[in-house]
Amino acid sequence: MTQFLQISDTHVVKTGSLVSGRLDTASPLKRLVLRIAELQFEVGPLDGIVVTGDISDDGTAESYELFKSILEPLNLPIFCIPGNHDVRVPFRDAFERAGYLPETGRLDWRHKLGDLEVIGLDTLIEGQGAGELRQDSLEFLKECLDDLEKAPAVVMLHHPPFKSGMAFMDSIGLQRGAERLNEILAEYQGDVLVLCGHIHRNISTRLAGHTVISAPSVCSSFLFNTHHDAPIGFLEQEGGALLHQWADGFKSIRIDPVRGDGPFAF
Ligand SMILES: [Fe+2]
Repeated sequence: MTQFLQISDTHVVKTGSLVSGRLDTASPLKRLVLRIAELQFEVGPLDGIVVTGDISDDGTAESYELFKSILEPLNLPIFCIPGNHDVRVPFRDAFERAGYLPETGRLDWRHKLGDLEVIGLDTLIEGQGAGELRQDSLEFLKECLDDLEKAPAVVMLHHPPFKSGMAFMDSIGLQRGAERLNEILAEYQGDVLVLCGHIHRNISTRLAGHTVISAPSVCSSFLFNTHHDAPIGFLEQEGGALLHQWADGFKSIRIDPVRGDGPFAF
């Protein structure tokens, strides 16, 4: 079996800063790292951690270094894609030594993780909240899947290729490329799990016959309020992580940020 964790939207800032003057994002990540260390006693070793974007909130080199230093004690391979808050140059500088990122251009990549092929796609439009899947990223995905034949694959992109129902988040959603993504995935004969972030909410749905899941954010959430004039802002709520397992198919389990007291006898 292959199993890995997905964390998302950590929004780390340089030491001493708060997101929006309020939110400490390093502490929730540190707490989650403790939980992940403990989790490995419960579920066995993990093959790695994937991070579905908005790793940094301020795009500074210092924030990426802080992110890496917080995860370092886990000693696990970490694979990242950029979100709308990330900035490509410091992102590449921070993660290039891991060896999975391309040397130039957009941050599309593929890497083997246990029995799975993981494909990371770059939807970042620097300076904007919304995202796009450009032609070159879509062609890259098509080439990867053609090459894989029917092998199981994980496809990661920050902006969900579905409407969340939260008006503000959908207004800064995936603006281009969803239709072609749908076509490419519909043609693929193997199992694909599509993973995304951005909406700070755990939503699962179907896309071209495959499962697509958005992860909660490590540090905050957005109220699932479907009114068109819902207030815009974040909640102070830590979302934990998702554990994805592959054996004869995919299974995904929400991991809460705190374990809870117990177990107590029935
Ligand atoms: Fe985002």
